[in-house]
Amino acid sequence: MQKNAMKGIVAGFNFHREISGNMTHTARKILVTSALPYANGPIHLGHMLEYIQTDIWVRFQKQRGETCTYVCADDAHGTAIMLRAEQMGISAEEQIKRVQQDHEADFADFHIGFDNYYTTHSPENKELSEFIYKACRDSGHIAERSITQAFDPEKNLFLADRFIKGTCPRCKAEDQYGDNCEACGATYNPTELINPKSAISGATPVEKDSVHYFFKLPDFENMLKEWTRSGTLQESVANKLNEWLEAGLQEWDISRDAPYFGFEIPDAPGKYFYVWLDAPIGYIASFKNLCARRDDLDFDDYWAKDSDAEVYHFIGKDIINFHALFWPAMLSCADFRTPTAVKAHGFVTVNGKKMSKSRGTFIQARTYLNHLNPEYLRYYFAAKLGNGTEDIDLNLEDFVQRVNSDVVGKVVNIASRCAGFIKKRFDGKLSDTVSNPALLDEVIAAGDQIAEHFENLEFSKAVREIMAQADKANQYIDEQKPWVLAKEEGRDQDVQDACSMGIHLFRVLCTYLKPVLPALVANAEAFLNIESLNWDDRQQTLTGHQINKFKPLMQRIEQDKIDAMLEVTKADAAAHAALQEKTNAKVAPAASNVEAIADEIEFDVFAKTDLRIVRIVKADHVKGADKLLQLTLDLGEGFGDKRLRNVFSGIKTAYQPEDLEGRLTVMVANLKPRKMRFGVSEGMVLAAGPGEEEIWLLEPHEGAREGERVS
Ligand code: MSP
Ligand code: ZN
Repeated sequence: MQKNAMKGIVAGFNFHREISGNMTHTARKILVTSALPYANGPIHLGHMLEYIQTDIWVRFQKQRGETCTYVCADDAHGTAIMLRAEQMGISAEEQIKRVQQDHEADFADFHIGFDNYYTTHSPENKELSEFIYKACRDSGHIAERSITQAFDPEKNLFLADRFIKGTCPRCKAEDQYGDNCEACGATYNPTELINPKSAISGATPVEKDSVHYFFKLPDFENMLKEWTRSGTLQESVANKLNEWLEAGLQEWDISRDAPYFGFEIPDAPGKYFYVWLDAPIGYIASFKNLCARRDDLDFDDYWAKDSDAEVYHFIGKDIINFHALFWPAMLSCADFRTPTAVKAHGFVTVNGKKMSKSRGTFIQARTYLNHLNPEYLRYYFAAKLGNGTEDIDLNLEDFVQRVNSDVVGKVVNIASRCAGFIKKRFDGKLSDTVSNPALLDEVIAAGDQIAEHFENLEFSKAVREIMAQADKANQYIDEQKPWVLAKEEGRDQDVQDACSMGIHLFRVLCTYLKPVLPALVANAEAFLNIESLNWDDRQQTLTGHQINKFKPLMQRIEQDKIDAMLEVTKADAAAHAALQEKTNAKVAPAASNVEAIADEIEFDVFAKTDLRIVRIVKADHVKGADKLLQLTLDLGEGFGDKRLRNVFSGIKTAYQPEDLEGRLTVMVANLKPRKMRFGVSEGMVLAAGPGEEEIWLLEPHEGAREGERVS
């Protein structure tokens, strides 16, 4: 049994696992990871493809009774995160804490069921990174030598290529990044740029030497040749790897100079591990952190050299080299087991094009969640995912059509067509016999094929098969026409039998859809009045069973929700661009002391602004918001149902809610209400100041009254 399981592992995802319900089953031990998202920005729908794909596979394994553990973490280190924190005026630790909270909330709301979500900035990760590094160093696989790099003399910081900007040496386009020109496509060295500038300070970079540490990847050429050909990779990925291996491997620079947010390298003061060294070790660290509070998980069982557990990394195709070259080499060097397989997926495009801020298609997970049900997207991605690395297009028209016709129109429809009759006429009780056992058997038998598709990451095939079964169920109900029978004399039993049959079929379909639509199926389980559905439970039938009242399981997607989501995304992008421009203006030396002033407006536009004196009657913290307070403003009598206003204001760093209550201030009373993440804001209070603790709310003189217009 165990031997066969091992054989399956070696063949990776492409083999067809023997699927059988009645064999005594030794649970597989499976550890699954998704790539660790960077802690410098929000989760977007591109990321979500990966977490949804992984989560579906994990839920499927758990539903089949396997021991499957899913861990992840925020990738917290690196220059970008350090600079972002500086820009926000907070410590790097504070920055990664805030981002992690947002990430975790996004994932939870998309029903991503991590067993542990951690951070790479953890004691476990520090210890493991040092351990693995020392093992590599002490076995002679670390080299040390001096290299020359661009250096920002103002910030005292070495500059990676993307932090240098200048004029393209070929086409003379201004403001191009250090290694390539977006205007003409030329690639070059940052030293070739005309008039190069640090993108961080605006200073002219100088060249400077410093000692770096290198992982000697070429030492592992043979090991990697064998590993990459042992069923660990998808075919297209294995081919890519072959090309790299043929071209010859280079030593990998694993160190960065201070200042850097990360772990200092042992015995090398001022040198830090490059973020990509400790990031994959973060997988192990997250698992280790979980083991500490779970008696049923043993660390060595999963990571010792002779481990018989399966380990899978789900990643995007852009980070294959880190996972299929450096990572297995480092692991084997430090005497850990290597991954069973690395599973790469393609990139999300929106309406056929790369996600882009300027096109307004860079949709954040939170923006989506504010408008749409997460399970729409889970279903749609599942319906499009194969086990290759092709890009996945989120075509918004197709999305609406597909979800509405499949999930709502086919699956939910079966239950809603049958439930009413059973509840009303038969007191919620299903028939004692199955009216069409052959059909039920057929739909149950399809489960083996569907399971195989899920196992092999052929989700689109699984979904197609499930919908083919749903079609059969609907066809059955169409033929039986319980709504016609219900009007005929003496056909009560037939109505109950037909509708019960519909419910049996619905239940089997729910079993199949559970990895994809966990929340919908949880509600269906409550309606069916059953325990949580395992894969093999579909064999049993609910004859004579009592069901509960049916509540609609999913609403259709409405186009205006999509429009609203895109609207907000566009507005975010515009705001981001404006901010970017302002920060750029700040670093540009010529403009360093000039405040950015907004474009001029006509007097009559200004005159339309209705400024009113208001009393702050209530002020509250907003859960999950660092900067916002929620204010209830009173404009006074004479404003009817517009008298009290709910306004969100970014003044939390400067005011305590209790200090505000009762005070007067000035508001823009005719600002169009705006939907924000936390609710609708119906106006704006006026304040000024440099920020943080120094924000001053406008306060009218004593004796002013609510509702008075300010002129
Ligand atoms: N921090 C690294 C991963 C370290 S793993 C030890 C990283 N982070 S990321 O936030 O940029 O990306 C996280 C995952 O999301 C990656 O697997 C990446 O490929 C994936 N995606 C990011 N944008 C994507 C799309 N537009 N489409 C599909 N997946 C994408 O890389
Ligand atoms: Zn150019």
